[in-house]
Amino acid sequence: MLATLDDIEKVAISALKEVQDESALEAWRVAHLGRSAPLMDVFDHLGGLPKDERPAIGRRANEVKRRLEAALLEKAEDLRQAALTRSLQAERLDVSLPGRPMARGRLHPSTQTQRQIAHIFAEMGFQVYLSRDVETDEYNFQLLNFPPHHPAREMQDSLYVDAANRGDNPILLRTHTSPGQIRAMREFAAANPKNPPRVRIALPGMCFRHEQINARSEMQFNQVEGLAVGEHITFSDLKGTLTDFARRMFGQNARVRFRASYFPFTEPSAEMDVECFVCGGKGCSVCKNSGWLEILGSGMVHPTVLQNGGYDPARYSGYAWGMGPERQLMLRYKIDDIRYFWGNDLRFLEQF
Ligand code: DAH
Repeated sequence: MLATLDDIEKVAISALKEVQDESALEAWRVAHLGRSAPLMDVFDHLGGLPKDERPAIGRRANEVKRRLEAALLEKAEDLRQAALTRSLQAERLDVSLPGRPMARGRLHPSTQTQRQIAHIFAEMGFQVYLSRDVETDEYNFQLLNFPPHHPAREMQDSLYVDAANRGDNPILLRTHTSPGQIRAMREFAAANPKNPPRVRIALPGMCFRHEQINARSEMQFNQVEGLAVGEHITFSDLKGTLTDFARRMFGQNARVRFRASYFPFTEPSAEMDVECFVCGGKGCSVCKNSGWLEILGSGMVHPTVLQNGGYDPARYSGYAWGMGPERQLMLRYKIDDIRYFWGNDLRFLEQF
């Protein structure tokens, strides 16, 4: 019997050497330690052995069982280690490869330009004033000296939000940032109606017009309005400030010219051109051979508008301007279609 146990152990141990994977190991366990394994057979027949042989056989059988169990655990661990080593090699990570670059967001080119403009005027003492996108006809037009049916409204075909039962005062999306002039002056003047404080503000924001959309016009575009009101402000201040702006925006050598124009809310009114920075003033397709590019409208604030804002035109004067950041970008980078700005095409946006 002891010899049988020796055999059982030898056979089992040598069979275990052949085991290569988990399923073979499980089969080995069933064959050598399972219910019908030869070793269990020995245990089953212990009772039928002569009394004096029993302790030695029993001890030996238990010893074989312990050894087989220990060998099983050891093999299982070996198999696990081997599997780990194999998978580490097969799924090897090359940490020296550069990672995938993160897509970084950035500001829209219009926002970038708007901030650049605001920054330049901030250096000259202008504060940013945010006005509303939705306006009444009164603020968008009437208080700016465009009475109902005024022909200058023709250029600002409007998108109405609510016109029913509002007579001459429908609600519309602002067609320009100029109504912010009235809102700002009224707010400033309310602080001290008898002695309103001076005003130096830049008003950026989106404007909306009912346009036939094409390469040159969009339904929405940004403007940056400017307003300076105080005592003894003259047209020279307007010219000096805007000339300096052009130099800071387009370079120290930028030349400008003012052309007489008309806006209902300024008198006199002027448009400012910068010398074409594409051809240096010689004439090209961007400046349509004129050598100049128009970048803004401006003028001395009309007395009626000062009055409407709460500033006595006998005491105060002021100047104002309105410029388009998209237009400046188009000129600077020779962008030939304004629809790119709101087309959400990353191939365009990622260039800025
Ligand atoms: N609001 C005008 C427009 O959208 C632009 C403009 C012209 C604004 C002259 C001004 C100004 O403040 O003084 O066409």
